[in-house]
Amino acid sequence: MLTVAAMADALFEEPRLAAVYDPLDPDRSDLDVYAAVTVEFGARTVLDIGCGTGTFACLLAGRGIQVIGVDPAAASLDVARAKPGAGRVRWIQAEAADLPPLQVDLATMTGNVAQVFVTDREWGAALRSAYASLRPGGRLVFETRDLAAKAWLEWNRAGSLSRAEVPGVGMVESWAEVFAVHADLVSFRSTFVFEADGTTLTSDSTLRFRRRGEVADSLRSAGFELDDLRDAPDRPGRELVFIARRPAEPPSGNGLPARDSRSRQAANPVYGSELVGGQ
Ligand SMILES: C[S@@+](CC[C@H](N)C(=O)[O-])C[C@H]1O[C@@H](n2cnc3c(N)ncnc32)[C@H](O)[C@@H]1O
Repeated sequence: MLTVAAMADALFEEPRLAAVYDPLDPDRSDLDVYAAVTVEFGARTVLDIGCGTGTFACLLAGRGIQVIGVDPAAASLDVARAKPGAGRVRWIQAEAADLPPLQVDLATMTGNVAQVFVTDREWGAALRSAYASLRPGGRLVFETRDLAAKAWLEWNRAGSLSRAEVPGVGMVESWAEVFAVHADLVSFRSTFVFEADGTTLTSDSTLRFRRRGEVADSLRSAGFELDDLRDAPDRPGRELVFIARRPAEPPSGNGLPARDSRSRQAANPVYGSELVGGQ
């Protein structure tokens, strides 16, 4: 058995695992709520933080929306770049806390990305970075598993075992198993058996389950107003969808809205003034 050490979880960093991420989780009805808010808020420019293999970014780009997908995992971004329509997305390899100057209508964190930020420092930095990337009045939308639902109780071999035939790869058996729970931090091992060559790969992850009040407080500390808190339609009672807004700024002395220095640099909301051509 090979355990992969990587910057982000091996699940996203190891090429063989990134390649099977989509085929092993083909039902992406969880993205419907994000597609709906894009329409609801009339967003024309979207930043997808922790975009992974780019499913949501490509979906939006196919609808004529300007999209930036950001993720630290190179292997996941390679999968994203190979998708139909990926050429219309600007892909950036970066941590959420380290975004270039942007000024978008909507920032998203799909697939429970919010839970990968395990410390308050990391989470606060990610929120402040998302805030700085939004135009005044722009929104940040993300979901997080409700601590009260204790989703991790089903993360054991029996409850999570699946076998799927992946085109070009063969049969892959996978499961997840929790190995530690410390307060609101849950650590689990994902195991993948590639039956074609007998390789077994594992990936260890730790996720933070924040209480809704904690999330609301952290949003306020980063400068956001909490617009709405909704039940995730595909997982009612299990996940919460937060909709936060960067407040519209009061007019400055000259009648023009005041902006922070990062927003001023972003002449083009998607490519930024000195960032034409993408990365
Ligand atoms: C569960 S996956 C979700 C991927 C994608 N959003 C989706 O819905 O399929 C979590 C993602 O968060 C990314 N991630 C981990 N640490 C991150 C960080 N510090 N900043 C931004 N993204 C991060 C991972 O690389 C991975 O792609």
